[in-house]
Amino acid sequence: MNRIAVLTSGGDAPGMNACIRAVVRGGIYHGLEVIGVRRGYSGLVAGDVFSLSSHSVSNSIQRGGTMLKSARSPEFLTAEGRKKAYEQLIEIGAQALIVIGGNGTFQGALHFFEEHQFPVIGVPGTIDNDLSGTDYTIGYDTAVNTALEAIDKIRDTADSHERIFLIEVMGRDSGYIALQSGLAGGAEMIMVPEIMLSTSEIIQTLKQRKTGSKSSSIIIVAEGEQKNTAARLADQIRHQIDFEFDIRVTTLGHIQRGGSPSAQDRLLGSRLGLGALEGLLMGKKNVMVGLVNHQLTYTPLKEAIEQKKPIHRDLLRMIEILRV
Ligand code: F6P
Repeated sequence: MNRIAVLTSGGDAPGMNACIRAVVRGGIYHGLEVIGVRRGYSGLVAGDVFSLSSHSVSNSIQRGGTMLKSARSPEFLTAEGRKKAYEQLIEIGAQALIVIGGNGTFQGALHFFEEHQFPVIGVPGTIDNDLSGTDYTIGYDTAVNTALEAIDKIRDTADSHERIFLIEVMGRDSGYIALQSGLAGGAEMIMVPEIMLSTSEIIQTLKQRKTGSKSSSIIIVAEGEQKNTAARLADQIRHQIDFEFDIRVTTLGHIQRGGSPSAQDRLLGSRLGLGALEGLLMGKKNVMVGLVNHQLTYTPLKEAIEQKKPIHRDLLRMIEILRV
């Protein structure tokens, strides 16, 4: 093997640049040329590629976003689009492909491998932390800290005005960001897609807090598959609540995807980037590189996507115990 390609796809995540840097510099160390693909699978189908040198990735480890740009490619969802991508890889002489992204990225990679048997290895890069086969995904730690900073700020004003705040965080169908930012931010309740509280349970808890003279509350709401989850929930509470309480909603949104990566995400990105490259050299393909209990692991892509990562119920229990 003497030439490989690398791309980032799907939602960007802080630490992706650290990962690209590790792939490039690992490649140089092992005598490989690394070709960067711009705009994910869209760029691959279009042949938008360039050679990456050590210099191309300097001064990037501390930067959020992805220097390769990212996109969600409708073309790669089709067999025809994937065939074009394969032809581009053959034309540039790449013998393997590293894809950094999340669930959708790996779905595409899996189809691509099954159709063309082209060696591909996935690196988990998503703030959602929803992939099996790794304890954490690149970008998750930074996103949790960004959400936490916002929660702390909202708590100040919630407390001053004695209000209930519903704060919606990202994570698609995974409650990881909600759970960890909520716990760290001392939230009174956390709503995750995996375990939903009913509106009457929420109102009951708010009532208890009010009689116990707790005048403000923070409820963290994971966005879930459907958008505006927190706004809809706030409406339901307003309709059913039979005591005076001022309710506000804040949706944190894409702020959670940006910013300089945390030390954890820089380290994870670097470790997994090098792990992906060295995995390819060991002959691994159609797998995702991950870190489990601090050890590098390689999990079949299918498993990484299909096995639902369990939410820690003991953490949800902690919320109830600690909010009293
Ligand atoms: O997968 C990462 C993520 O940020 C999810 O948490 C969120 O639901 C989605 O991407 C938003 O996607 P987009 O940036 O395309 O709106």
